[in-house]
Amino acid sequence: MIRFGILGLGNIAHRFARSAQLNPNVTIEMVASSSQAKGEAFCQKYGIRHYTQDYTQLMDHPAIDAVYIAVPHGRHAVLVEKCLHRHKAVLCEKPLGLNAAEVSHLMQVAASEQVFLMEAVKGYFLPARDQLKEVLKQGAIGTPLYLEANFDSVVPYQKGKYLFEKGQGGALLDVGIYPLSFALDMFEGDPVVAQSKLVMSQGIDTYFQALLNFADGQSCLLEGSIDRARPRVALIQGTQGTLEIPYYYRCQEFTVTSKGQSQKYESSWHGDDMSGEIQEVVSCLQAGLLESRLHPLCQSLKLAQLLDDIRTKAVCFDVG
Ligand SMILES: NC(=O)c1ccc[n+]([C@@H]2O[C@H](COP(=O)([O-])OP(=O)(O)OC[C@H]3O[C@@H](n4cnc5c(N)ncnc54)[C@H](OP(=O)(O)O)[C@@H]3O)[C@@H](O)[C@H]2O)c1
Repeated sequence: MIRFGILGLGNIAHRFARSAQLNPNVTIEMVASSSQAKGEAFCQKYGIRHYTQDYTQLMDHPAIDAVYIAVPHGRHAVLVEKCLHRHKAVLCEKPLGLNAAEVSHLMQVAASEQVFLMEAVKGYFLPARDQLKEVLKQGAIGTPLYLEANFDSVVPYQKGKYLFEKGQGGALLDVGIYPLSFALDMFEGDPVVAQSKLVMSQGIDTYFQALLNFADGQSCLLEGSIDRARPRVALIQGTQGTLEIPYYYRCQEFTVTSKGQSQKYESSWHGDDMSGEIQEVVSCLQAGLLESRLHPLCQSLKLAQLLDDIRTKAVCFDVG
């Protein structure tokens, strides 16, 4: 049994708690929240025994094996590091750090303390992803040439919400990892950011677009936003057909179209869309691993470096 503690009880913490309840090898031992009312309501809702207002108390608690960090991006690195120094395994929400330097530092701490650390990018742990990669490998669309993926939505301004804060806010840091991790999962090799664009408003990027090139000529067009909505979908174009993957970051189905014929593939989650990620932590800890093989820390670093590159190379349009 892996005994989790949760730091921060916002939106994603609820989804984690619901998903954890589906796993017989997981229990949530304690939660920490700045708000007593929120903490107590959370405990009651999910049948959790211990609440604390003090994040450090949770990190020091001897009955906790792993900490799920569910706070805004800007606090990930500091809390991850504190947990690692206390020899608590960590599942940290994406992005693991604000930039590659933070991620690289956390990798060094995890290695020197010999403690498990994983970034929560749930797309890597979905059964449909394996099926998708197998279909690509079998040549269902010929040689894959081009990939497009977006993560667009309209998020109304909320005062005090991290998403709108300079430094940790913006679309690229919040949702960039979804299309980027998908592209790196589908195409092999290290891509180069050829072009990128940011639309800026009130000091944060509300839209990003990036064109990535791979050494063998494959390319990807990635897009994300908090200022416009359209269906979130990925498309992969090959020499002999196309693959369409709706909600690719939590996918359960995709369609292959080749030679005028379409075939739909379905592969449901075992539990919900977070179950695979939680089970990965359980499996790794039970096996005594310090990293996930499906989403190792070098992959988190690669994602962070590419997000840095997209930002650094971007042509910016400030719309005020
Ligand atoms: N993987 C996914 O599908 C997914 C989806 C959504 C979000 N996320 C990630 O999860 C993280 C949290 O997102 P969220 O949507 O859950 O955020 P949220 O609803 O704003 O909740 C964040 C929580 O963090 C705690 N917190 C600690 N320090 C804080 C500070 N300085 N300012 C504000 N809150 C602070 C608060 O909890 P207490 O008051 O209880 O202490 C707050 O409720 C983000 O990094 C985001 O990228 C991942």
